[in-house]
Amino acid sequence: MSALDGRRACRVIYQSAMIVPASWRRSQIRCCPSLWFKMGGMCDRDNVIAGVQEGYDRWAEVYDRDGNPLQALEQPHFQRLIGPVRGLKILDLGCGTGRHSLWLASQGAIVTALDFSEGMLNEARRKPGAAKVRFMHFNLQAPLPFESGSFDRVVSGLVLEHIDDLAGFFGEAYRVLATGGFAVISAMHPAMMLRGTQAQFKDPGSGEVVRPGSLPHQLSDFIMSALDAGFSLEHFVEDAADAELATRFPRAEKYLGWPMLAIFRVAKEQPRAK
Ligand SMILES: C[S@@+](CC[C@H](N)C(=O)[O-])C[C@H]1O[C@@H](n2cnc3c(N)ncnc32)[C@H](O)[C@@H]1O
Repeated sequence: MSALDGRRACRVIYQSAMIVPASWRRSQIRCCPSLWFKMGGMCDRDNVIAGVQEGYDRWAEVYDRDGNPLQALEQPHFQRLIGPVRGLKILDLGCGTGRHSLWLASQGAIVTALDFSEGMLNEARRKPGAAKVRFMHFNLQAPLPFESGSFDRVVSGLVLEHIDDLAGFFGEAYRVLATGGFAVISAMHPAMMLRGTQAQFKDPGSGEVVRPGSLPHQLSDFIMSALDAGFSLEHFVEDAADAELATRFPRAEKYLGWPMLAIFRVAKEQPRAK
């Protein structure tokens, strides 16, 4: 099969997946991971599918020097949606190399940051200002190790595609938020999978394209999981690559006009009086 035929077949698989229930899709991933991880253009010889943790451990060394347009697209939306943070207790879920955590701490927030990749955490801990952040090794598939209502804000940047149990993720985010608080969550836009793209990097050592496993969630999976957890949706933004982004980040060129980012703010409101 040519690469193009492969991509077409992948697209058909993904598009079919858009109309079947998430539980079914996940069961297919479990019984046949190669089906999902071969879709979306992953038809080249040099592509390697890694476990998420192992994939990010390998990515860590070059993660911040990767010329990743998604982070650049996300940052201004994130900073606008999170608003002033001075003195607030903030939990960062899947903090990676500390992009959001360190910025939040520099703005006066009291930040706790969780990730299960020691490689990513080590990079974060080496950065200026890291001593102000409480970085913790933690797998987000488990209940969070905090009392209910412990945080004023929860943030999570570009992590959702790796999370199988979205109900658990949003349920725990809701639990640890104080009433009146909100969460700002971003994700690679699921439409990127239709272009054969998911979290990936080129290993400078081996030359392999490594893809820490991603799941084909839909926007509705994100939003409905948040609403089911009890959140109210306050803001929802989708953004696409434009010429300016492509000038700064050449990797964005092939996605001009295509939605790359979803980011939303969900609030834990006061319970309504009956
Ligand atoms: C694309 S990176 C984003 C890092 C950072 N939030 C940012 O926006 O720059 C995704 C991060 O999520 C982490 N991650 C994925 N699944 C996780 C899990 N189950 N538990 C903890 N961390 C996880 C990975 O280790 C990685 O650091």
